[in-house]
Amino acid sequence: MLDDLTDRGLHPLLAARWSPTTFDPMFDLETTQIELLVEAARWAPSAGNSQPWAFIVGRRGDDTHRRLVRHLAASSRRWAPSASVLVANLAHRYVADTDWEYSEFSLYDLGQAVAHMTIQAQALGLSARQFRAFDRSGVADEFGVPDHWEVTTMSAFGLVPSGASSPAHPPAGRSRERRPVRELLWTGQ
Ligand SMILES: Cc1cc2nc3c(=O)[nH]c(=O)nc-3n(C[C@H](O)[C@H](O)[C@H](O)COP(=O)(O)O)c2cc1C
Repeated sequence: MLDDLTDRGLHPLLAARWSPTTFDPMFDLETTQIELLVEAARWAPSAGNSQPWAFIVGRRGDDTHRRLVRHLAASSRRWAPSASVLVANLAHRYVADTDWEYSEFSLYDLGQAVAHMTIQAQALGLSARQFRAFDRSGVADEFGVPDHWEVTTMSAFGLVPSGASSPAHPPAGRSRERRPVRELLWTGQ
């Protein structure tokens, strides 16, 4: 599938991206790599350039990481702690008619910033899996996130261990089916 998509001109960073649930538990990201992930988010477009995003970044082994891991759901606890970095993604909440700095598009904008991070990770030879299987209010309480910020998702970044799969090829049997293009195009009929 990857070869077919790249032959047709889809950018290799997009064609090769997939979300692993196995990360090399010995691999650490360089500080400069983590800075680049945040930089990629920083340069995402946003409504009115409001930049309604913030991130809690934990490196495996540090205190922030330990505090994030505490709030993982049973399903993500099986794989996420072994990623090199966990990032909690926060969006600024919007209050209609009182909030001129931010907009009702903050979740849209945050998603786009996280997509930037994900593709930047891919460009660095890393992988990412975004996930919502954690206690969002638990993370908000843990880190004193004020009410006008919403803890939305987390992202796990790291290296896929060599072996059964490679960063460019998801393990055989993993379903990554996509709806056909014709179903994505609204014709108005
Ligand atoms: C907002 C969001 C929430 C997600 N939540 C979870 C999750 O809780 N657990 C999980 O294992 N994967 C989660 N995923 C990963 C998706 O299942 C995955 O992206 C999807 O199956 C498509 O696969 P691909 O990223 O390999 O193309 C989430 C992804 C997004 C964007």
